[in-house]
Amino acid sequence: KDLTPIKDVYSKDFLIGNAVSSEDLEGVRLDLLKKHFNVATAGNAMKPDALQRTKGTFTFDEADKLVDKVLAEGLKMHGHTLVWHQQSPAWMNTKTDAKGQTVYLGRQEALTNLKTHIKTVVEHFGKKVISWDVVNEAMNDNPVNPANWKNSLRQSPWYKAVGSDYVEQAFLAAREVLDKHPDWNIKLYYNDYNLDNQNKSKAVYNMVKEINDRYKKTHKGKLLIDGIGMQGHYNISTNPTNVQLSLERFISLGVEVSITELDVQAGSDFKLTDKLSDAQGYLYAQLFKIFKAHAKSIARITVWGMDDGTSWRSSTNPLLFDKNLQAKPAYYGVVNPD
Ligand code: XIL
Repeated sequence: KDLTPIKDVYSKDFLIGNAVSSEDLEGVRLDLLKKHFNVATAGNAMKPDALQRTKGTFTFDEADKLVDKVLAEGLKMHGHTLVWHQQSPAWMNTKTDAKGQTVYLGRQEALTNLKTHIKTVVEHFGKKVISWDVVNEAMNDNPVNPANWKNSLRQSPWYKAVGSDYVEQAFLAAREVLDKHPDWNIKLYYNDYNLDNQNKSKAVYNMVKEINDRYKKTHKGKLLIDGIGMQGHYNISTNPTNVQLSLERFISLGVEVSITELDVQAGSDFKLTDKLSDAQGYLYAQLFKIFKAHAKSIARITVWGMDDGTSWRSSTNPLLFDKNLQAKPAYYGVVNPD
């Protein structure tokens, strides 16, 4: 096919990424990945339940294979994710008490589990990754009072076991590893979805600002959180102006921003009319116009999957290629947004 590689269109702007599983790293799927993308995120292989399902037993084999293959094919790798409330083993922050009830671990025990996981994983992959999502999805969906970010945190198991400083503690643990390896140059990200919601984006802004301001005072102005990842799970009714407002709010913090899991839901039941497909293409174009205009502060735009057939939201056809790997209007919106 004579399609223009997406990564070539944006070579001076930002990295262009996709989410991968091991099946994406063979045959025509690998060809398409290499043609259009220059960075990969593991869709699942580097999540806590994949790497330490049992306490103290790290299972790196599959992730290593995936990462090494990605690097051998000439793409970069982003790490996803160290701390999350999903796809994480229960033992990390809960236990079963004498009555058979699930209860939260005490702060110290949970903190030890949190830090051990982070330090072991960051050290293991080392500079094979360019960046890590250190904490994923810590904020509530629509905070009523974003100024009070601590009250806006999701009541996740980590929050309940450790307390509201678990986010900061997680970044401190990751930073401790990086400080031992000055040559690694790995960026530490906070990652979340629905950040086009202005209340949620303000709450995240306030959290990152407070954590970074505190760190800067004692570390010669250095950042603890290097970047904010806007997942970008959108739909055709998403208002691009809200995406732009949040993007600019984060950039004003002095951190880098990446779009980490972009997809745009359109249609349902695996059906996509031409009209919806065009609307989807138009939204992708509007978004990339905004991203291009802010390219100086954007490190990476990652699409969450290659084709509608294998998307985590397959029935809503959210990606750039259809299930036969044919380019959709969404692809053309991305490569030709103007
Ligand atoms: C999704 C994967 O794509 C699915 O394969 C898996 O079943 C569930 O997780 N936010 C994230 C991603 O940070 O890790 C999620 O990925 C999608 C939502």
